[in-house]
Amino acid sequence: MQRLTNKQIILGITGGIAAYKSAELTRLLKGAGADVRVVMTPSATEFITPLTLQALSGNPVHLHLLDAEAEAGMGHIELAKWADLVLIAPASANFMARLASGQGDDLLTTLCLATEAPICLAPAMNQAMWKDAGTQQNTEILKKRGIKLFGPGIGEQACGDTGPGRMLEPEEIANNTADQFETGSLTGKTVFITAGPTREPLDPVRYISNHSSGKMGYALAEAAVEAGAKVKLVSGPVNLPAPARMERVSVESAQEMLEASLQDLSLCDIFIAAAAVADYRPTAISEHKIKKGSEEIMELHLVKNPDIVATVASNSPKPFTVGFAAETKDVLEYARGKLEKKNLDLIIANDVSRSDIGFNSDENAVTVISATEAEELPQASKRQLANRLIEKIAFQYKAATSN
Ligand code: C5P
Repeated sequence: MQRLTNKQIILGITGGIAAYKSAELTRLLKGAGADVRVVMTPSATEFITPLTLQALSGNPVHLHLLDAEAEAGMGHIELAKWADLVLIAPASANFMARLASGQGDDLLTTLCLATEAPICLAPAMNQAMWKDAGTQQNTEILKKRGIKLFGPGIGEQACGDTGPGRMLEPEEIANNTADQFETGSLTGKTVFITAGPTREPLDPVRYISNHSSGKMGYALAEAAVEAGAKVKLVSGPVNLPAPARMERVSVESAQEMLEASLQDLSLCDIFIAAAAVADYRPTAISEHKIKKGSEEIMELHLVKNPDIVATVASNSPKPFTVGFAAETKDVLEYARGKLEKKNLDLIIANDVSRSDIGFNSDENAVTVISATEAEELPQASKRQLANRLIEKIAFQYKAATSN
């Protein structure tokens, strides 16, 4: 079920007594880390209320094809594109017939026509309706189109009959759904990533900060999500939109970044510190704007900020901890020193004296250093490099935790 982490699932519910089991199915999919949006046919609402499914999925339930409000937000095309998988449970005989004939006469059938995501059905109907030649023919048509069928099961039915046509139990449907996705190198793992600069206020209008676009940290967060991880991105102020499928916690100062990083740290498997944290902050923040005086030289009193990654790594048990070392000379030597001093498992070193890479650039080149080895990753876009780095981190994490 871990393969459902971050996955975007549309759960279509059609009219049938098994619709009551869709509530449990929603809960299971959600519990396994999927984002679930429920689409109901009008007859499904006779069996279970949209409110129940809204409460369980945590998302509004979609009911109508031509709903001006929904089309302005998430209409049928957006929903079709949003889905990683469309699961219809229960799928009634009538719905299967409409799908097989390529109809688009309601939201759910239209969405199935419009989506490029895989479609899976969990049929549920009376045994005679299932055995009927029409239904069997429709089943064959749907299978030929690549649509997967989960079940139906055989057994006692709500109408008193016994035979094939029962909807599979929610647990089985959820497991079958998870099986449709591949396992990534970080499936089921929780990764915290710090990114961007911090701002240390002097007064209400001024602050001390570092150069940092946040691009490397954000690229790592996206690569970790793609590898199947649940990601918390603790971000300083940057000009980047909140990435999809992860939690972004926006912070300003190093103190705030530390607090957000330590929150729920026991859930964190891998901690990656890509933020450019200000080493010092003003000893006091002036309540009012500091006025320009007649003196030529102004003295600022600064106090050292907490080292976030070192604080994380001092925890017991600590997550697999990865830091960055941005250096202008003797890059490998300084990086090795930091690896040891901060008790890190890996450090990613980059040479920031070069103007073509690092800081605000879209490209970077790094060396990945552990206690025993160093490997250079050549210059590439931050996104490509992030994919390679996440694979390296996942590999080293597994090696470290398998002992
Ligand atoms: O000591 P230096 O700032 O060069 O170390 C860089 C690494 O330590 C980066 O991974 C950075 O995110 C992290 N760091 C931190 N908290 C600080 C300073 C640096 O987490 N106060």
